[in-house]
Amino acid sequence: SWTTGSVIEEQVAAIREQVGDRRAICGLSGGVDSAVAAALVQKAIGSQLTCVYVDHGLMRKGETEQVEKDFVAATGVQLKVVDAEERFLKALAGVSDPEEKRKIIGREFIRVFEQAQAEIIADQGPAVEFLVQGTLYPDVVESGGGTGTANIKSHHNVGGLPEDLEFQLIEPLRQLFKDEVRMVGQELGLPDEIVQRQPFPGPGLGIRIVGSVSKERLDLLREADAIAREELTAAGLDRDIWQCPVVLLADVRSVGVQGDGRTYGHPIVLRPVSSEDAMTADWSRLPYDVLARISTRITNEVKDVNRVVLDVTSKPPGTIEWE
Ligand code: XMP
Repeated sequence: SWTTGSVIEEQVAAIREQVGDRRAICGLSGGVDSAVAAALVQKAIGSQLTCVYVDHGLMRKGETEQVEKDFVAATGVQLKVVDAEERFLKALAGVSDPEEKRKIIGREFIRVFEQAQAEIIADQGPAVEFLVQGTLYPDVVESGGGTGTANIKSHHNVGGLPEDLEFQLIEPLRQLFKDEVRMVGQELGLPDEIVQRQPFPGPGLGIRIVGSVSKERLDLLREADAIAREELTAAGLDRDIWQCPVVLLADVRSVGVQGDGRTYGHPIVLRPVSSEDAMTADWSRLPYDVLARISTRITNEVKDVNRVVLDVTSKPPGTIEWE
């Protein structure tokens, strides 16, 4: 019968057998799947695993610290953090088209990750042969199954590497659904903030700013998002909603009155949704008093924001994210 304990034992034994005395690399995104996959592999092979976390500067408040401190403290994992904020901001400067932003973020992410990978391999010699991925059962079904290898092009500015490196994949979550992954993570001692984390898009806050992305706008959105999350958590609503994107309409301004005068600031959109699988969604009927607290705090505490609006669109026709 299925128990988290037996899944962990089985996977640990299988990973040890597969890896032997070789080495593995795992990319951490801050999300549940990569965190649980990494923790499982860490339990199996300890310091033979190196994790890579690319900080693209588009994370929410406190999330990078969660990976750097809490995840490392809970697992003892060897972690390489790449601070790539400037690089991402430069690449995104002046770009407001959503698809263009996604492309740029995806491209830069792969470049930075591969660079980090190449550096680890250069440090550790040719024994790095495995790449850990947090693939879940629904992903396996969707992509038609089959285990794989990954081809990684190395970079020429890191000497002594073959032109193409082939990695074998370790995918310890391939048989699990999301709720099972959370149970395994909990059993492995990961903090609730990581295990119970709601979905968050890979391109991060970059696609929650309608308009172009800048450090200033990101900081503003980070503040507003942190307030919304704080109040939703305080109200005990985290398990009732699927996720609540907070969006900055950076190219929109409206007139307001705050303190002793007229303001001309940006609106923040709250997009709380209920869903089973993100394919369809309904807007969450949040209690008015919670919405009121979020609105009051955001307009009081976040500079340049003078209006908070609620998105009451289901999916379809609206997507969950605004971009
Ligand atoms: P939409 O906006 O299409 O979102 O209704 C459905 C779900 O997917 C998440 N999402 C992403 N996740 N990379 C991700 O890892 C992405 O580029 C991305 N875009 C959207 C979104 O947060 C929601 O949970």
